[in-house]
Amino acid sequence: MSLFVVFEGPEGSGKTTQIHLLQEALKEAGREVLCTREPGGTPIGEQIRTILHADENTGMLPITEALLYSAARAQHVGEVIRPTLDRGGFVVSDRYAYSTLAYQGDGHGLDRAMLQQLTAYATDGLQPDLVVYLDLDVAEGLRRKRLAIGAGGEWNRMDQLAIEFHRAVREGYVRMAGEDPERWLVLDADQPAEALSRQVWARIDRLCGRSGLVAAKGGS
Ligand code: TMP
Repeated sequence: MSLFVVFEGPEGSGKTTQIHLLQEALKEAGREVLCTREPGGTPIGEQIRTILHADENTGMLPITEALLYSAARAQHVGEVIRPTLDRGGFVVSDRYAYSTLAYQGDGHGLDRAMLQQLTAYATDGLQPDLVVYLDLDVAEGLRRKRLAIGAGGEWNRMDQLAIEFHRAVREGYVRMAGEDPERWLVLDADQPAEALSRQVWARIDRLCGRSGLVAAKGGS
């Protein structure tokens, strides 16, 4: 079987740590997983990421952002995600189309229906089996991200936007999660990393139960 899991969340919500813990848990269960990110995940996507996040590009229009994030995503799906899933592999992505809907839609106010069409086109309709949404107070998330800069963390052009922007993004995520509760797992990110990762694993366990994946890991 294949499995496609996406992590979403505001700045500083701990997605990277959770993806790492899930990768380790899957490895222990005998499953290799491809961990990837957006924007990025391919050489072309990483080039687009550089343009998107460059500090000097403060004049970039929201519509340009939406198109560039979507261009990187189309490459990501076509070159990496879909072929891996077609081979029966597991893919875990740090962000996906929901980021465009939340940041460019709810944050910047671009038309939601238009963005839904654009993201459906860019992904060729590919939807993940599970979206893990790490929910966190916006000010706390930005504070954590600022603290991480010294340890090699990235502070990009999007992080500098006003707190109201980030609040609108969070509201967008919460709304999307409410609209599709079967696909979304909403977790309060203000918990120890291990506690969060146990909750992620429990959901993956349920999704993959029939394949015997969790039996191999011993249910931890
Ligand atoms: P991150 O790698 O630290 O999560 O940063 C990615 C940034 O790009 C983050 O601020 C969210 C933003 N973003 C969008 O605005 N739209 C998108 O479609 C994606 C994938 C990311």
